[in-house]
Amino acid sequence: MFVIEGGKPLNGRVRVSGAKNAALPIMAASIMADGPVTLRDVPDLVDVRTLADLLETLGVRSDRAVDGSLNLQVVDDSCIVADYELVRRMRASICVLGPLLARRRRAIVSLPGGCNIGDRPIDLHLKGLRALGVDIRVEHGYVIAEASRLRGTNIFLGGSFGSTVTGTCNVLAAAALAEGVTTIESAACEPEVADFGRFLNAMGARIEGLGTPFLRIEGVDQLSGAEHSIIPDRIEAATLLIAAAMTRGQVTVENVCPTHLSAVIEKLREIGVPLFIESQGEDATSLADIRVEPAERLTATVCSALAYPGLPTDVQAQFMSLLSLCEGNSVVTDKVFPDRFMHVPELVRLGAQIYREGPSAIVSGVVQLRGACVMASDLRASAALVLAGIAAKGHTVVRRIYHLDRGYDRLEERLNSLGANVRRVTDIVENVPDSLKLSHTTPSAAMFTSEPETISASFPTTGGDRRIRVDPPQSAGVEQPADSQIEKVDLSGTRPE
Ligand code: EPU
Repeated sequence: MFVIEGGKPLNGRVRVSGAKNAALPIMAASIMADGPVTLRDVPDLVDVRTLADLLETLGVRSDRAVDGSLNLQVVDDSCIVADYELVRRMRASICVLGPLLARRRRAIVSLPGGCNIGDRPIDLHLKGLRALGVDIRVEHGYVIAEASRLRGTNIFLGGSFGSTVTGTCNVLAAAALAEGVTTIESAACEPEVADFGRFLNAMGARIEGLGTPFLRIEGVDQLSGAEHSIIPDRIEAATLLIAAAMTRGQVTVENVCPTHLSAVIEKLREIGVPLFIESQGEDATSLADIRVEPAERLTATVCSALAYPGLPTDVQAQFMSLLSLCEGNSVVTDKVFPDRFMHVPELVRLGAQIYREGPSAIVSGVVQLRGACVMASDLRASAALVLAGIAAKGHTVVRRIYHLDRGYDRLEERLNSLGANVRRVTDIVENVPDSLKLSHTTPSAAMFTSEPETISASFPTTGGDRRIRVDPPQSAGVEQPADSQIEKVDLSGTRPE
């Protein structure tokens, strides 16, 4: 678990790692290579190690070179079973299905099942592969698939929730080694899918239209080994930018592709976060640094998580943490994973005011979050709780941070390098700070005395926005601090709108 002492503004420079969601399907595509594959900027994450373990069982050997690059080489192409025991550790393991069928023409891959963010079916993956001529049945929890021939065709890959990221990668992989031409309509446009396609092209595939919903693939007979650098992780970049904004810090996030983050940058600016793109080259896709300055005022907004180029669902939780500290009422909707709200009750434990209604949540900004013990439910929810913890007053304990380690490379070390105070400790009650422990027999008297709160409110009748302090009823022994900056208003009889 993490023990966080919050409330300090972040300060300094931090570099973004390679993208997890690009690295995973690209590693899986090494199954298709007739030669060694070298990947640079593969992040050192639990999910990456899990996939390396699965690939090992599928006859692909991998090792890290001294310079950090990951080398992968097929040593046995007879294995076709992705076992439940490995797949259940990471549902993205389904990304081996397309490459296995493309190269080995047979695959038995455990169905990944759902997870905390939704049911996550794979019907579109199977639809696309069937269209290419794959014979598929699902038995005993496994996808059993065989393709005596793969034939190019026209495939529409859209579903009720839009396009599919991993589904597009699976169908692309099979189409790359199919006979003839395949077109995919409603393909996922995410930068990670485009990076996957660029890697296949580096191996000798012929794919056009990457980054658009319409892909054209001319099948080839074989693919060679290749070298490739993974794109920077736009979700990690967004998480760090939001961390800086929430703590009103001054942080430069290095190694970012700003065009991959357009929706995030736009939304942060709308909220009031001063954000500057530095040292970007001529090319729109070139890398840059992004500097965040402390915001004077953060204001509520409407956020809808959508497929790329929309606001990513993978930053919805982190944005909700930020919006908890923005003045006014925000509305957050997730149109990709409408049930991805497990972080809501945990943020509420930290003092956020959030009301969930179906695929949306209404977030009423508070002046300050206050530390508490919370539980992570999935990867991005963990990040949202860590951000809330570093911005909150006092201690926060985030349990089950193994979710975080799946997708962030030592996040606590990076945040600490910016001045945060996040300690990784064993999850035992002795490690919970005293300030968060309540004795059963002698509940602290302080728990019953509320602190004065500053809120922002608009008073149309008296005109303009004002910052006011609402004092709780006088409690015995509690001295109210004087603050000449803050106007003291008697709210009895008035109703702020
Ligand atoms: N969907 C279907 N049928 C399918 C496939 C998807 O209905 O056959 C639905 C899903 O249920 C969801 C939507 O379509 O509502 C999008 O799902 P998608 O297939 O695009 O998701 P994914 O490929 O399983 C990847 C990322 C996720 C990220 C989503 C959306 C990887 C390894 N995972 O998942 O990343 O949230 O795309 O952008 O690339 C994360 O990193 O925390 C994470 C969950």
